[in-house]
Amino acid sequence: MNICELQQEIIRMKKENDVCILAHSYQAREIVEVADFTGDSFQLSLMATKASNKNVVMCGVRFMAETVKLLSPEKKVYLANPEAGCPMAEQMDRELIESVKKEYPDYAVVAYINTTSELKTVCDVCVTSSSAVNIVKKLPEKNILFIPDCNLGDYVSKQIPEKNFKLLQGGCPTHARISAEEARKAKELHPEAELLVHPECKPAVTALADFVGSTAAIMNYAEKSDKKEFIIGTEISITEHLSYQCPDKKFYNLSKDLICSNMKATTLVDVYHAVAGDGGEEIILDDDTMVRARKCIDKMIELG
Ligand code: 13P
Ligand code: SF4
Repeated sequence: MNICELQQEIIRMKKENDVCILAHSYQAREIVEVADFTGDSFQLSLMATKASNKNVVMCGVRFMAETVKLLSPEKKVYLANPEAGCPMAEQMDRELIESVKKEYPDYAVVAYINTTSELKTVCDVCVTSSSAVNIVKKLPEKNILFIPDCNLGDYVSKQIPEKNFKLLQGGCPTHARISAEEARKAKELHPEAELLVHPECKPAVTALADFVGSTAAIMNYAEKSDKKEFIIGTEISITEHLSYQCPDKKFYNLSKDLICSNMKATTLVDVYHAVAGDGGEEIILDDDTMVRARKCIDKMIELG
């Protein structure tokens, strides 16, 4: 089968097998085209709660499929490629956070949604890159332990100088590998372009940006802007998706290294098998994790 035939077969099978396909925006074009919903991980898990399908296939990484399961416990949720994990989500374990909490007992533990459900069980509230500033501002605690991404934590802390932040040394290997030197070079190469950067990048890179925001915020900004050229400082697929969405504008990658091999582990063939029912992995979480990790997400929904 060629790509087009495979896509048509997936679209036919998803109706027959009552499957809703979710694709994170870092997925390849051919996967986004067969998805029912595309967006960031939290947007997708909310979409899944509204879908009437009994089965959900998540094209993204493991923590995203876990978030879908936490919010839709009655559905069967599958991760299209069982090997697609996120190194940042898996950087810190429950034992580490429990021991840090003992050292900082009066700190609220704020977890980026890019964490395992196991880690969420020992955190007070979850945030997305879009909601982090708003939610941390609303917390009654003045002291914040922000995990696992120290770059996002640094960005949030600068927007809320009235609170005390404790950051741990974690982060996204894809975004964090970009240097300020690369950002300067990209600006020199495209002097008319605005630099749009994800807050998972290093502070020295975000300092050079015209706009800092989550993936969804970057896409929204580029679509609505009157400007015609943009350097995209987040995963490489966003540059491609924006080029399709706004054919009258020009989009450049900040770096060719901004490719997340974990996100790209999922192929259209994986999606085909997951939808056919002979591939992917069903996400099963124990009752204690379901209850305690869900609490952390519910707190975000309550404050957001
Ligand atoms: P957002 O889509 O929430 O901006 O997250 C970025 C990311 O790295 C997802 O893995
Ligand atoms: Fe994880 Fe970074 Fe890849 Fe997102 S881009 S899945 S945070 S490694």
